[in-house]
Amino acid sequence: MEVITTAAAMTARRRELTGTVGLVPTMGYLHEGHLSLVRRARAENDIVIATIFVNPSQFGPHEDLATYPRDLPRDLALLEAEKTDIVFAPATPAEMYPPGYQTWIDLTDLPTKLEGARRPGHFRGVATIVAKLFNLTRPHRAYFGQKDAQQCVVIRRLVADLNFDLEVVVCPTVREPHGLAMSSRNAYLNPEERVRAAVLYRALQAAAAALAAGERDAEALRQVMGQVLAAEPLAQVDYVSIADPETLDELSGELRGPALASLAVRIGRARLIDNLLLTP
Ligand code: PAJ
Repeated sequence: MEVITTAAAMTARRRELTGTVGLVPTMGYLHEGHLSLVRRARAENDIVIATIFVNPSQFGPHEDLATYPRDLPRDLALLEAEKTDIVFAPATPAEMYPPGYQTWIDLTDLPTKLEGARRPGHFRGVATIVAKLFNLTRPHRAYFGQKDAQQCVVIRRLVADLNFDLEVVVCPTVREPHGLAMSSRNAYLNPEERVRAAVLYRALQAAAAALAAGERDAEALRQVMGQVLAAEPLAQVDYVSIADPETLDELSGELRGPALASLAVRIGRARLIDNLLLTP
């Protein structure tokens, strides 16, 4: 496994590669969710490139950039065990955003919804860094997790709008046995909070169960999720949503097709998100 730490070296190395390239972008502190993407990329491509970069531009001024968990040696060992060919881990933020940097990618509509509405500038940072990683690694396929549903919609839009010649592959959310979606930010939870945090998935499952039992009304499904969350004293709800899976607009009235159930909840120091695609 090669570890590349400068943009110039990544570009030069990419020029030499032949065969299909699968890209797995991450911010590190890897868990089974990340590794599931690496395994899928390994199965489908000649070369697997993983990237590790805690991207400052996607964090708000009062968010957790300074405390975001990091462990590069451990991440490299995990990636090596999955037979990753190349890890691109920029040595410093300035490697991606050198002095004088001033080019940003803004989507007009999607970032006004859900996570984007609560985290101004977040998807500008995500779209920009992902586009830069696409240019540096020129992948045939790029792998993302359904865990970050809005990010997947944004990246698909970015790829279509800017004519990136690659396939976006979205992989299922990997969960702990009790249902908590794996996340680097779960490191902020103490053992009790981690158990309580399973309430996010229980709320999503309650919406799915209500739908299966015949409840089609979007607002009623939001209420079902809200009731499950209200029963957990440690859960501070940020939002609960039933939205169109493509536009991310909130739905009202009867569901006519698939709907994205999603939520953001604070438990202790952690702000957790999760989602489930509902199909009537
Ligand atoms: P990060 O949060 O490290 O996640 C990297 C990738 O792993 C994302 O595509 C994310 O959706 C996926 N992932 C995280 N948890 C998962 C889980 N439990 N199951 C399946 N996939 C999971 O998302 C980012 O980094 C950044 O925004 C990035 C795209 C790297 C741009 O900086």
